[in-house]
Amino acid sequence: MSIVNVQNLSKVFGNKDNRNKVLDSVSFKIEKGEFVSLMGASGSGKSTLLYLIGGLDKPTEGDIFINDEDINKMKEKKLAALRRKDIGFVFQFYNLVQNLTVEENIMLPVIMDGQKEKDYKDRLEKILRIIGLEDKRKALPNQLSGGQQQRVSIARAIILSPSLILADEPIGNLDSKSGKEVMDLFKSINKEEGITILQVTHSKEASEYGTRTILLKDGKIINSDIE
Ligand SMILES: Nc1ncnc2c1ncn2[C@@H]1O[C@H](COP(=O)(O)OP(=O)(O)OP(=O)(O)O)[C@@H](O)[C@H]1O
Ligand SMILES: [Mg+2]
Repeated sequence: MSIVNVQNLSKVFGNKDNRNKVLDSVSFKIEKGEFVSLMGASGSGKSTLLYLIGGLDKPTEGDIFINDEDINKMKEKKLAALRRKDIGFVFQFYNLVQNLTVEENIMLPVIMDGQKEKDYKDRLEKILRIIGLEDKRKALPNQLSGGQQQRVSIARAIILSPSLILADEPIGNLDSKSGKEVMDLFKSINKEEGITILQVTHSKEASEYGTRTILLKDGKIINSDIE
């Protein structure tokens, strides 16, 4: 079973006079356990593709299946649950809640999902250990470095054990040492937790943490070496 299955996906922005076909009948699959890097020039549609896969935007044409379910046929309530539980999002600028502590930020998805915090006590400890921030659990985001904040946002993305992480230039704002720490963390999450990862990156070095690269150009995939 593929985690992600994209079929003949097109996305057009603008109107008749100013038509911008950003994705042009794109098809590919991502299997469970893969760590895929999505690359391409600025404006080539990487973020657009990621948002479509995450159900944050609707395609002009084509289908997207997540765990074999067509997300554009889902009722809004089911899609919201999929976004909350099955997909973890990581963005370039962390998007942490500034007045919540590290552990409160990590636990946000649990609360949003209406579950009991105490059921996640052990999971929280495990995740704090994985991200190496056990001693910063009571810190606020502005007391952390960029790399540490990104590690917290990754922890928040995996607390509910999603099947897929979608990361949009997760190290785009970090120095090379912090970037490497974040990439090592993604790699270990992919391996140890078996979470499938799709990351957008401009960095060849970061792309090499993945097992496969998809390259977007002029709205099309110009390589997708499916293993
Ligand atoms: N909401 C929108 N309305 C209109 N045009 C949009 C919208 N979102 C994206 N676009 C256009 O779609 C194209 C692709 O944008 P996208 O953000 O997906 O590129 P990208 O590959 O992520 O670029 P970057 O590497 O700079 O982040 C661009 O031409 C952009 O202007
Ligand atoms: Mg982008």
